[in-house]
Amino acid sequence: MTRRSEALQLFVDTAFVAYDQFAQAPESRRSILQIFEALETAGEERPGLGTRLPVCDHLDRALAVETKQNSLHRVVDRFKEIEPLLEWRRRSNYDGSASANFVDSHANAMIIGPGGLEERRDVWLGVTLLAPNVRYPDHDHAPEEVYLVLSDGEFRQGEGAWFSPGIGGSFYNPPEIKHAMHSLDAPLFAFWALLAERPARTRPFSDQTTQGN
Ligand SMILES: [Fe+2]
Repeated sequence: MTRRSEALQLFVDTAFVAYDQFAQAPESRRSILQIFEALETAGEERPGLGTRLPVCDHLDRALAVETKQNSLHRVVDRFKEIEPLLEWRRRSNYDGSASANFVDSHANAMIIGPGGLEERRDVWLGVTLLAPNVRYPDHDHAPEEVYLVLSDGEFRQGEGAWFSPGIGGSFYNPPEIKHAMHSLDAPLFAFWALLAERPARTRPFSDQTTQGN
């Protein structure tokens, strides 16, 4: 059986504790329990290339999370340990809903999932970083998704009003729902966890992309 590197396992462990604390909506709880149960089995680990983008200059500020919640500090600390291995990428498709500065002011990194440090299809765990005053485009995807937000910033689902989950805020995106986010005067940093293939017994989602968030 494959074993995870210690750094990645510690990240997964701390991510579970944080999600378990903050993801409280019933659908979020069901989803994250399925996600982290799947993650009890390690996938194929690959050596990360550690490719940053210029926007990653905002990372230190984004990760200086002001909270008294130890679980958030722990997951951020473990994230910092694996971050040098991550391959930060730009989203390849976006529409006019994105702000004009979007292209050079955002980056996504898959931690676990297609193109991540652990290559697997069933579960994706990743992060988005936005520079200040950036609007991420409306997007949707077949897998359901649970966010864990580490910054101030606003989010939107469907045609709903923008809302601020706050630091430690978490919410559930049902499959195919349109969603977006935008940073305020500070960088935005958020984790997302996607259940890309439902556990055996139910049929897998179709129409997968490898776009991550
Ligand atoms: Fe998403």
